[in-house]
Amino acid sequence: MAARIALVTGGIGGIGSAICLELAERGFKVVAGYYPAEKDLAEEWQKKQAAEGHEFEIASGDVSSFEDSQKMAQDIVSRIGPIDVLVNCAGITRDKTFKKMEPDQWRAVISTNLDSLFNVTRQVVDGMTERGWGRIVNISSVNGQRGQFGQTNYSAAKAGAHGFSMALAQEVARKGVTVNTISPGYIATEMTQAIAEEVRAQIVAQVPMARMGTPEEVAYLVGILCDDRAGYITGANYEVNGGLFMSF
Ligand code: CAA
Repeated sequence: MAARIALVTGGIGGIGSAICLELAERGFKVVAGYYPAEKDLAEEWQKKQAAEGHEFEIASGDVSSFEDSQKMAQDIVSRIGPIDVLVNCAGITRDKTFKKMEPDQWRAVISTNLDSLFNVTRQVVDGMTERGWGRIVNISSVNGQRGQFGQTNYSAAKAGAHGFSMALAQEVARKGVTVNTISPGYIATEMTQAIAEEVRAQIVAQVPMARMGTPEEVAYLVGILCDDRAGYITGANYEVNGGLFMSF
């Protein structure tokens, strides 16, 4: 059987790169989606990965735009093949207290982190249901579950991501397609590096494991959810947060 094809949006980022590697190790043909303005970065990333023995495809697409997401999916299907796995990992922060938040900071986060789930998933879901197999994993955040000072935009988008997973999971369940959410805590990437050092230290002090997570610790779970043997897991949310927020 030909390798299944996985698209990881935000695939050249901190968590995204680890997901690409995990899925490649598990035998998927992996396409890393990237923001069009980051073309040079994406090409560099692809070369660096190749030099380390990892062959990835890359595909350009602004996930906050439906048209661009459509073009990205069409490009992948025509160049590489049908998409069997989608990991919605692209995301940004624009942290500000609510009283200082400008409309463009609200919109940028909602469109990149939440509209993107509609924009990209809409392109791939029919193919998955027609073929009778598919895996969709949405990367949310602990801050969607518990809220975070300075992140009304991000917390709203990330909470919305799991609502999306639960609803879509029901619509595609009979067709062999699963839809799940992973909610990482504070993971050591450029995104968390941007938090002021003293704020970050205060947050890490609240983590029972007393450290930040690694991208690989998130990617491992993505790999499991994309396995054939995870076919009965759907509409679920998994926390990878070192104990920062516990729920069931
Ligand atoms: N709880 C209560 N009060 C707080 C607070 C908190 N967590 N943080 C700050 N404050 C208080 C300050 O003490 C200060 O009080 P005074 O006005 O009485 O002095 C006031 O709020 C500061 O308000 P400002 O509007 O001036 O805010 P600021 O500009 O200093 O900082 C911020 C705002 C940059 C958003 C800052 O709160 C911050 O960095 N928050 C953390 C955001 C965060 O965790 N982002 C995660 C990014 S990574 C990610 O998102 C990945 C993931 O999924 C986990």
